[in-house]
Amino acid sequence: MSTNKDTNAISTTSEERTRKSKIRRWVEIFLGLCVATLLAVGGAACAVDAVEDDAPAPEDGDAVLDSESGDQVTDPETGEAASALTATAANLKVAFIGDTHTGTNFKNVLKVVKNEGASALFVQGDMAYAGSNAATWWSNVEEILGSSFPVFLVQGNHDVGMWSNYLPKAANHLGGATRTAGDHNAQYKTVFKGLAAATIKKGDSAADIDDLLGSDTHLWKLCLWHQNQKEMQIGGKTSEMGWEVYSKCRQLGAIVVTAHEHSYERTKTLSSMSNQTVDSSCSSRSSLCVGPGRTFVVVSGLGGEDVRDQTRCLPTSYPHGCKNEWGFIYASQQGAKDGAMFITFNVDGNPKKAKGYFKNVNGGTVDNFTVTHD
Ligand SMILES: [Fe+2]
Repeated sequence: MSTNKDTNAISTTSEERTRKSKIRRWVEIFLGLCVATLLAVGGAACAVDAVEDDAPAPEDGDAVLDSESGDQVTDPETGEAASALTATAANLKVAFIGDTHTGTNFKNVLKVVKNEGASALFVQGDMAYAGSNAATWWSNVEEILGSSFPVFLVQGNHDVGMWSNYLPKAANHLGGATRTAGDHNAQYKTVFKGLAAATIKKGDSAADIDDLLGSDTHLWKLCLWHQNQKEMQIGGKTSEMGWEVYSKCRQLGAIVVTAHEHSYERTKTLSSMSNQTVDSSCSSRSSLCVGPGRTFVVVSGLGGEDVRDQTRCLPTSYPHGCKNEWGFIYASQQGAKDGAMFITFNVDGNPKKAKGYFKNVNGGTVDNFTVTHD
């Protein structure tokens, strides 16, 4: 009796397993059909859905990206990388400032960074000017953002003499980012939550950018330096960087963020920096495209030092002059206040979509743009 009971129990368990197995198989088939349909019509976002459903990787060459962790997704069957590109963490918001100096103005900008909920701060150089120093600058930062907030530095012309004084504290503010050293101590690659950034200084070359980002497998890439080419800013700065570094970053599909000129200006999508050619297939003022061969350039130099005039590409109101390459200009004539640019990567559940804006210390949002990665 006892044996029959056990046999019945085993038989029941076996039937249950068979039933569950059939259900699982039907669910797999159903999901496979759904994913195939999504991939046929939906592109990258659907590819992400496919990964999250543990379905086969797409075969169209599109990136397969984990929208939550930012980790590279692997094929569950082969264990091999399902994609050459890694997404950032979902809704990763970072801030960009430059030309800060130290003191009240700078601290007010830092409060904007904090209040906007940025996960990290990229500083494109000229931290402390004459009469101040690295210790005071870090003291300002830590007063507002704390002793371990992720802060990534670029060397500006005013930083050269005291650069080594910034580095010990900078090591405490990596926030879990990985650092790959370049040719000198102001050249490196930083990867923060799936966002890859190449940092160089004046005098560095396109080959340096290539060394840092050429074989990088992250979807969203940044190129960060301080100085400009004359045509890549709207004030009085001259050409100091050379076109090659801009071109290399464009070829790699990396967003270029600089400072040095004390205003905020952002180009449209450019297919050539040296000719200031707006990409005819993505020419919107506020909907930008980034990918191999095209990107945009930002000067974010309203970190606290002062606010300067727009002297190039007049008029001061949109559409601006030159070749109509500027999507947004914010200088003294536009009533510019100090502030920071923010970009949030991997938004709306789409690893290939980003949203940017500039927020000033009075709480005003003066630029809004979206970026779609190819
Ligand atoms: Fe500068």
